[in-house]
Amino acid sequence: MLEQLKKTGKDAIAILKEISDMAALEDFRIKYLARKGRVTQMLSEIRKLPPEQRRAAGQLANKIKKDVTEAFEQLKSTLQSQQQKSKEFIDVTLPGIPTNIGKPHVITQTINELLEIFGRMGFTVAYGPEVEDEWHNFVALNIGPEHPARDPFDAFYIDDNILLRSHTSPVQIRVMERTKPPIRVVAPGRVYRPDTVDATHMYMFYQIEALVVDEGISMVDMKTAINQFIHAYYGPEIKWRLRPSFFPFTEPSAEVDLLWLDKHGKENWMEVGGCGMVDPNVFDAVGIDSEKYTGWAFGFGVERLAMRKYGITDIRLFFQNDLRFLKQF
Ligand code: DAH
Repeated sequence: MLEQLKKTGKDAIAILKEISDMAALEDFRIKYLARKGRVTQMLSEIRKLPPEQRRAAGQLANKIKKDVTEAFEQLKSTLQSQQQKSKEFIDVTLPGIPTNIGKPHVITQTINELLEIFGRMGFTVAYGPEVEDEWHNFVALNIGPEHPARDPFDAFYIDDNILLRSHTSPVQIRVMERTKPPIRVVAPGRVYRPDTVDATHMYMFYQIEALVVDEGISMVDMKTAINQFIHAYYGPEIKWRLRPSFFPFTEPSAEVDLLWLDKHGKENWMEVGGCGMVDPNVFDAVGIDSEKYTGWAFGFGVERLAMRKYGITDIRLFFQNDLRFLKQF
């Protein structure tokens, strides 16, 4: 009997050694280790032995069962990890999965390009808060509470004295409050106005502000700088003009128009922003000596500049985030 047990054990181990796949291993389990399997049966047969033989046979059978089960489990885990590895195999010859690569929004691209041009012209960049107080947005810019010019700069108020800035001109004030002339900065950023939305108006848009303050600065410097910028951005063919205008913070003031030919070759002037010589009242508000210093400033609409550059006819396209539009830039 003991010999027979030993043989069953040996056979089982020998068979296991030959197994190299999970299906064969499962066959083995059924044949040997399952409830009706040989090793399991072997144990139940021991009960039929006369009592004096049972003990030795039982011990042997248990040991065989343990050895076979261990060998089985070990093989099983080896085969499983082999299978796992073959699943992880990477076929480097397969074509890749295409990924969509993003890029900066056309407005970001435009601002970067503008800052680059002004950087070359010797301007540094300044930023101001989008949530402003009345002092910076209006009062220091010579727009008093009763000033009739308050209306065009109609604003979104958050609190009595706090509002979303309606232009980037308050950054001029912030720069002059903390910097002594000579000053030469550009300030890009978002501005907010409760405008009715149409092809050329949005309740939020971008402006880029410029400010130059030094001794002996004149309107000629302003016109030269604007001309230089416009040609650097649009190339030599572009036509532009200054048109006399009014702003409380500049005297004299002008608006800047770009020439735009429509589909039929008809000439249209498109306003892109305002400019002028800094009003002495503004210098007084920030404690810069208006007898000694003069300066010029402008504020341009970034979307308007981009619209002229790319032939975009509706400002709303910038904010709809339609990929068919954005992908073109
Ligand atoms: N802040 C004006 C606006 O939003 C534009 C402007 C006009 C800015 C004249 C200036 C300036 O710096 O000198 O309409």
